[in-house]
Amino acid sequence: MSFYETALKTGTKVFAVAPMIDWTDRHCRFLHRQLSRNALLYTEMVVADAIIHGPRERLLSFSPQEHPVALQLGGSDVGKLSEAIRIAADYGYDEIGLNVGCPSDRVQSGTFGACLMRDPGHVADLVTAMKKVSSVPVTVKCRIGVDDQEPADILPNFLARMVGAGADAIWIHARKAWLQGLSPKENREVPPLDYDLVHRMKRENPNVFLGINGGISDLDQAKTHLSVMDGVMLGRAAYQNTGLLAGVDAILDSDSPGGTRTPNLDWLALRDTMIAYAQDVIASGGRLHHVTRHMVGLFQGYAGARRFRQILSSEATRPGAGTDIIAAAFDAVDLAGETQRSAERIAG
Ligand SMILES: Cc1cc2nc3c(=O)[nH]c(=O)nc-3n(C[C@H](O)[C@H](O)[C@H](O)COP(=O)(O)O)c2cc1C
Repeated sequence: MSFYETALKTGTKVFAVAPMIDWTDRHCRFLHRQLSRNALLYTEMVVADAIIHGPRERLLSFSPQEHPVALQLGGSDVGKLSEAIRIAADYGYDEIGLNVGCPSDRVQSGTFGACLMRDPGHVADLVTAMKKVSSVPVTVKCRIGVDDQEPADILPNFLARMVGAGADAIWIHARKAWLQGLSPKENREVPPLDYDLVHRMKRENPNVFLGINGGISDLDQAKTHLSVMDGVMLGRAAYQNTGLLAGVDAILDSDSPGGTRTPNLDWLALRDTMIAYAQDVIASGGRLHHVTRHMVGLFQGYAGARRFRQILSSEATRPGAGTDIIAAAFDAVDLAGETQRSAERIAG
């Protein structure tokens, strides 16, 4: 039984960090995993062609500590997606997700991403083929519609087609994508959110795992959605206010995928783990900044956060920068106060 089936059966909720190109790389996911044992972590979207022809190891390898981790694929060709899944199987991802929500020009010219919302039959064929070759759950991340589509009319059929094709879960970004005239960034902000519609889809599909995404900015909002939905997915808020993830396990059941609760966060242990991790990255040819660029949002709103950010964004980017900079950045934060507040947040 996949963890999505288990989640549905037991009522266990899933919290996911959204796939985000250039943001949710392996170093980002390693950091996020230190803050939450249970959050499901998505990769950046990786295009099937890139896996087949590109630098596989760099695109697909990740640390065992990142589990559970889902690989998000972009593509619209049955053969290529199947081949990409076969190649990725060796890396041990816990899920394969298909991107049906990304509106960028680059993605449209390959006719995949959000424009596939117009062709549910083809997406269903893709999912059927992906299920055939995948030994792990296959999921879809979509929008509520594109352009002049009427979401309330098209979404029920789209979801039914995905379910019919065997999709194990569907994550819905609760706004349309406008394929002309808006940048990808505007497409995450301008089209209005329609949470009511997504909640209604869940009520009408009690046996289908449905997760909601889009504009959810804190754990209180996440909890409210989880009272209706099976899963909640946060993108920008999780990345930009990373410390938020320290409260995730407390809002989920201890049975959710990935293990047990993180009772409290030990910030000094986190510092030491990140220093050791960054040392390994540097030793294998990477740069300190590859790790620290994902850490700047750790202490948003807390005493010393500004200095923490400054140290990480300026000093950590210098050539040859070493991990003493991580220690210096943590020294700038009132860690004792933060540990106390973190405990209160989790208790509350
Ligand atoms: C920098 C960035 C990159 C993104 N890349 C992807 C991607 O690779 N695949 C995808 O499905 N969505 C991508 N998205 C969209 C997010 O997954 C998410 O659907 C969107 O940000 C709305 O959620 P939020 O309001 O919680 O951020 C990206 C978003 C951002 C901010």
